Amino acid sequence: MSRRGLTATAHALVAEGRGLLAMDESTPTCNKRFAVVDIPQTVDARRAYRELLVTTPGLGDCISGAILYDETIRQQDSHGVLMVERLVAAGIIPGIKVDLGAKPLALHPGETVTEGLDGLRDRLKDYALLGARFAKWRGVIGIGQGFPSLACIKANAQALARYAALCQEAGLVPIVEPEVLMTGNHTLERCQIVTGDVLAAVFDELATQGVALDGLILKPNMVLPGLTSTVQVSADAVATATIACLLQHVPAEVAGIAFLSGGQSGELASARLNAMNIQAGYPRRDLPWPLVFSFARAIQQPALEIWRGDDANRHDAQEALQHRALCNQAALRGDYDA
Ligand code: 13P
Repeated sequence: MSRRGLTATAHALVAEGRGLLAMDESTPTCNKRFAVVDIPQTVDARRAYRELLVTTPGLGDCISGAILYDETIRQQDSHGVLMVERLVAAGIIPGIKVDLGAKPLALHPGETVTEGLDGLRDRLKDYALLGARFAKWRGVIGIGQGFPSLACIKANAQALARYAALCQEAGLVPIVEPEVLMTGNHTLERCQIVTGDVLAAVFDELATQGVALDGLILKPNMVLPGLTSTVQVSADAVATATIACLLQHVPAEVAGIAFLSGGQSGELASARLNAMNIQAGYPRRDLPWPLVFSFARAIQQPALEIWRGDDANRHDAQEALQHRALCNQAALRGDYDA
């Protein structure tokens, strides 16, 4: 795909009023989430759940793109229709998670580096033939006493940049996801500093690898206090810290910013995204990039808990999914009311 094609896809993913649905849980992660609500951990159950998601009526009104996992991009639904075809018919761009997970970083106990670069060029070609138009890679950075180390930040930033370059070579828009985790008792300020360091390293490596920023989407964490911090803050404070951090470290050429939810509740994730878009001056555009969502848990969780593997609950589960998608659409306009 041409540079222009990449840019067009990137802009379509963050176009007015829509965001992304991450439904790219690896099989072990999906099974873990199923186990919590007593759903059998089988291919058939995963297929039924993903079919429920992609066939939710009206989903394409709020969702621009869906990130799939390897199993789903090759999978047909119960009517023999490819999941990818269902998405395209709903006006949703199919994408694919291509990293192979966060693995222990040598000599740095407790830290990880995300793997999956070996053979990635061929896998990307394959995924493009299967209909993917964008890809996702997640680096994971924790905060604690003595970490993150520079080694962890640099290793993940370099892998993200090499992945992004391979994606653009293959004509796929890279979603670059450096996730600073919420786990821990750190302050909002510490998260802002670490997130800033990580973003600086990522954009430095992207520049070194020659990645075109207008054909790329950044998927960052929001700047938050640690989950067990004694000082929790308002949605407004999160929005102010997050926007300040992004303005300092994210070049204006980047096509868009699509936040991960990272384990926040659906309501909190929507409220914080809403506060950001109010501060960004919606409907004016006071920031260089649109701020949208690319949530997994914060959109899916209520639907999963209602479905519980029982088709009798399918309709209610789809309504719950649509509700959270609509809430996040409202948040893009600064119009969300919990
Ligand atoms: P969460 O929104 O649940 O953090 O998931 C986003 C994602 O893509 C994880 O890689």
